[in-house]
Amino acid sequence: MTRPLKISPSILAADFSRLGEEVSDVVEAGAEWVHLDVMDGHFVPNISFGPAIIKALRPHTTAVFDCHLMIAPADPYLAAFADAGCDIITVHAEAGPHLHRSLQTIRALGKKAGVSLNPATPLSILEHVMDDLDLILIMSVNPGFGGQKYIPAMTDKIAKAHALIGNRPIDLEVDGGVTAANAAEITRAGANVLVAGSAIYKGRGVADYRQTVAALRQAADTGRM
Ligand code: DX5
Ligand code: ZN
Repeated sequence: MTRPLKISPSILAADFSRLGEEVSDVVEAGAEWVHLDVMDGHFVPNISFGPAIIKALRPHTTAVFDCHLMIAPADPYLAAFADAGCDIITVHAEAGPHLHRSLQTIRALGKKAGVSLNPATPLSILEHVMDDLDLILIMSVNPGFGGQKYIPAMTDKIAKAHALIGNRPIDLEVDGGVTAANAAEITRAGANVLVAGSAIYKGRGVADYRQTVAALRQAADTGRM
């Protein structure tokens, strides 16, 4: 079963002084989702933004808010991110000892539950929670910063994650160093959600974003044929 392709621009690479406009512009330019990278300076060596900023962005679009929590612990903050208007809340498997509980909490809040894996984390960590998640996010760089290079070994991991998913209604998302040059390789391996920060926000404004989103989608479609 092929799940629909979604382009999820990461606003980490956007102009932070005009975030509301940056979000509505990228959606107007054709992106389906908006990827929100939350960093705590503890789980990852960088700090970005939290639920108050996401809540302020919520009125700027009806697009899916795809929230990637790079924070530890995550559980005490899940309700705040749900309340801020996130539609999908993704936690890192490495961020706490009770992954199953985190996923249950997210679903109990009425949101879709995702699990992200750092490059070195094996897929086997997901084996016993496959019925409790809606999305798997394969990190193709070490989390913490935008603008890094895609780790080639992640293509095989994506293919294995795709096989693990089988016919389950689970989205397979890839995040880090995604560009029009490697999007086909990534979708060919089975991913259906592409996160891109610098590749999309390298321009400024709707006209530029329309081009960068279209280039990514065109490349991604090639890998899905
Ligand atoms: C990295 C973040 C990514 C990042 C993607 O920690 O999770 O979402 O912003 O940025 P690019 O596309 O520039 O690698
Ligand atoms: Zn991310």
